[in-house]
Amino acid sequence: MIAVKWWQKAVFYQIYPRSFMDSNGDGIGDIPGIIQKLDYLNDGTPQSLGIDAIWFSPFFVSPQKDFGYDIADYCNIDPCYGTLEDFDRLVEECHKRGIRVMLDLVVNHTSDQHPWFLESRSSRDNPKRDWYIWRDGRGKKPPNNWRSIFSGSAWEWDEHTGQWYLHSFLREQPDLNWANPEVREAIHAVIRFWLDRGADGFRLDVPHTYCKDPQFRNNPPFWKRPPLDRQRLRDKVFFEKTIALFGLPDFQYKQYNLHQPQTHEILRGFRRVLDEYPDAVSIGEILADYPETVASYYGRGDELHMNFYFDFAECPWDAGAFRRRVEHWLSLLPAGSWPAWTLSNHDRIRAISRYGKPGVENQQAKLLAMLLLTLPGTPFIYYGEEIGMKDPRLPKRLIQDPVGKKLWPFHKGRDSQRTPMQWDDSETAGFSAGTPWLPVGPELSARNVRSQDKDPSSLLNFWRNLIWLRKKKTALLEGGYRALTENIPADCYVFSRSTPGQEILVCLNFSRKPRTIPLPGKRTPLFSTHNLRSKKPVDTLTLAPLEGCLLEA
Ligand code: NOJ
Ligand code: CA
Repeated sequence: MIAVKWWQKAVFYQIYPRSFMDSNGDGIGDIPGIIQKLDYLNDGTPQSLGIDAIWFSPFFVSPQKDFGYDIADYCNIDPCYGTLEDFDRLVEECHKRGIRVMLDLVVNHTSDQHPWFLESRSSRDNPKRDWYIWRDGRGKKPPNNWRSIFSGSAWEWDEHTGQWYLHSFLREQPDLNWANPEVREAIHAVIRFWLDRGADGFRLDVPHTYCKDPQFRNNPPFWKRPPLDRQRLRDKVFFEKTIALFGLPDFQYKQYNLHQPQTHEILRGFRRVLDEYPDAVSIGEILADYPETVASYYGRGDELHMNFYFDFAECPWDAGAFRRRVEHWLSLLPAGSWPAWTLSNHDRIRAISRYGKPGVENQQAKLLAMLLLTLPGTPFIYYGEEIGMKDPRLPKRLIQDPVGKKLWPFHKGRDSQRTPMQWDDSETAGFSAGTPWLPVGPELSARNVRSQDKDPSSLLNFWRNLIWLRKKKTALLEGGYRALTENIPADCYVFSRSTPGQEILVCLNFSRKPRTIPLPGKRTPLFSTHNLRSKKPVDTLTLAPLEGCLLEA
C-alpha cells in the first residue's frame, strides 16, 4: 500500500465545535476559539500534537435539536459558532499550519426549519414537495412499519397537508428525497460551495440511510436477516452482542430503509464532484450489521475515499479480538482501498472509559494509541483522547442530547462524550469564561493539557512523540502489514509494517503481566509506552504489563 495522497499519510483529529474552545464566554465553543488553539494541534514542531487534518462536526446554521446535525442552511455558519468570515479565517489559519479542513456533510436529512422543508410542507403541489418523502397513511396508521433510529415511528403526521413525512432520526430532521435529481443537484452545489471556499473534504453523515425502497415495503422482523458473522459476534462486548443478536432496539431487519443499492450511484455522483478538486477527500460514517456492506461503499475506487472502521468501539479488551478484527477488515477491503481507524467519536463512549481499569487506564490508553497510529491506514483521534479525557456520569437533569431523552430508557445519551475540552485545571477547564454548556469531565487535575504538557511521561506527550515519529517512518505510513502469531502469547498482538527498505515491529501486550516475545532476529527498540526501556538490540523482548513497543531491524 503506497501512501501517495495527503490523506493517506495524515493523522486526523475530530473537533466537536460546541465543546472545543469558547472565545466569548457564552459557554459554547466557537470558531474563533478553535483558531486560538490551532498551534496546540500543529505549530510545525514536536511541541504540538502534529495532526494534519481536522474533521469539524457541523457548525452550520441549525436549531441545534441534534446539536448541528439538523441543518437549516448548508451554506452559512450558525451565529453561535461564528460567521462565514470566521470560517474563512479558520481555513486560512489551518492551511498556514499545514492542517486540512474536513466538513461534515449531513444530507440524509435537513432541519425541519430549512427553507426547503418549509416550502415542501406548505402544500401538496409546492415545487419542493418532492424534495422530501411524503406518503399517505394506511387508514390512521403511518405508511409502513419503519422505525426512526432515534426511536418511535419514522413517520410524522402533518395535519396541514394530510400526509406523513419520513424522518430516519428526529421528527425535526426530515429525510431528503434522494430519488429526486433536483435534490442531488442542490447538494452538489453545497459541496462545491465549500470546496471553492477552501475546504479539503467531507465526512459524510449516515450515507446508508439516504435511499429508500421505491415500493416502501414493510421491514421484516430481525430473525429474517442473513446470518451474522459468528466470530465477529463473539468478538463483541456483551452489550453490543445483545444489540446485534436481538436486532435492538426495534427488532427489525432494516431491509428496505437502509443500504439500498441506489446509494452507490449517489456516492459516485459525489465522487465526480470531488474529483473536480484534485486533493478533495471523503470519508463515510457507514454502520452495518455486515462489514462487507461497509466495504462495498469504496466501490471500484469511484465512491468514498475512506470508510470508518467502527468495530473497535465494540471490541473487548482482548489482543486476539483486535487482531482478528483488523485482519477481517483488511481482507474485506477491495484492492487499493484505504482503511480509516477510530476508537471514539461524539456518538461513542470514549475508549478510555470503555476499557479503563483503575490505576492502569493511562497505560491502556497509550497501548491503544500505539495500535491506532501504527496500523496500515489513516487514524482519527477524537478531541481530548490525547489527554485521556473520560466520560462523566451525568445526572438525568443535565442531559441535553435528544437521544438521552428519547431513545430506550437505559440509554443515557451522548453528552458524556461531548464535555468541554480540558485545557487546564481551573473550574471551567480553561474552556470558557462563562458556564460551559455541559459540565467538565472527571479527574480534571490530571486530565488537562496544561499539566500534561510539561510531564514527559504524560499521555499527551506520548501521543505527540508517536505522531511525530510516525511522520518520519515510511514503514508506518505505507508499509505492508503482517501479523506474527507463532509463539506469541495469546494476550499480545504483534505485527510488522514493512517497506523494502524498512521494517518496524509493533508489539502490544494487552495483559497485566509481563510477556516475552520471540523476535524474528535482532531488533532495536525504537519507542515504547514505558519510558525506561533500553535501546540495546535484543532477540527476545520482555514486555512489561500493558507495554507497547516499536522495534526496528
Ligand atoms: C450520525 C451523527 O454522528 C450523529 O451525531 C447524528 O445524531 C446522526 N448521524 C443524525 O445526523
Ligand atoms: Ca462561544
